[in-house]
Amino acid sequence: MRKKIVAGNWKMNNNKRETADLIQSLKSLSFSSEVRVMIAPAFTHLVQVEEMTQGSRLEVAAQNMNAAESGAFTGEVSASMLQSIGVKKVILGHSERRAYFNESDASLKDKVATALSYDMEIIFCFGEELAQRKDNTHFDVVKSQLSAALFELSPSAWSKIILAYEPVWAIGTGETASPEQAQEMHAYIRALIAEQYDQTLADAVSILYGGSVKPANASAIFSQTDVDGGLIGGAALKADDFSAIVQSA
Ligand code: 13P
Repeated sequence: MRKKIVAGNWKMNNNKRETADLIQSLKSLSFSSEVRVMIAPAFTHLVQVEEMTQGSRLEVAAQNMNAAESGAFTGEVSASMLQSIGVKKVILGHSERRAYFNESDASLKDKVATALSYDMEIIFCFGEELAQRKDNTHFDVVKSQLSAALFELSPSAWSKIILAYEPVWAIGTGETASPEQAQEMHAYIRALIAEQYDQTLADAVSILYGGSVKPANASAIFSQTDVDGGLIGGAALKADDFSAIVQSA
């Protein structure tokens, strides 16, 4: 059966010393072996964090990568660079990257292909904006985001895919999807995967919820049948909060 996962997306936060302090605090906590715990610090600190977390329960992910092998892409980071420092996971398709850096479904499909060719695990983010939920197109939006980037993958590739449903209106706003809204969307996603592939594959895919998850609301959301943990932003920056959220999974 799929394992619970709690991943902290640190976004563009924490300098070198703050990163070291937070990793040190997280390392001193004991997490249930039932939950995989991941953290995604900034590129500049990945080497440091990868070294500091050796032998610990903390798994390290990058927040983004370029689809190309190498070349004239100023400011970008490739899969082989991540591989060379031991980072084997990457977050792709975060709504902030889609909104502020023009990431399209087509470019994400290429990034997914490159990450898989490096045998990386992918936390693939998607989710509707407020206007889309209001006009009741949220299921269609999610379906098109998933099918454009992922539904041509071979069944075996799915062992490397972790989904993260992040409704844009709930990110950093303090407003969360209700547990029922999260469950409704997660069940819809799992049914889509079952339709596209089969039920066994759909049942094996972890689907995380992201958007204003805090210690106070984590267990209500995580206890939903099709919610397999969370992708945490703001609350992942405080060891106590992140730890309480991991404990709720
Ligand atoms: P917040 O938890 O700060 O709402 O961010 C969620 C998120 O975007 C995680 O990727």
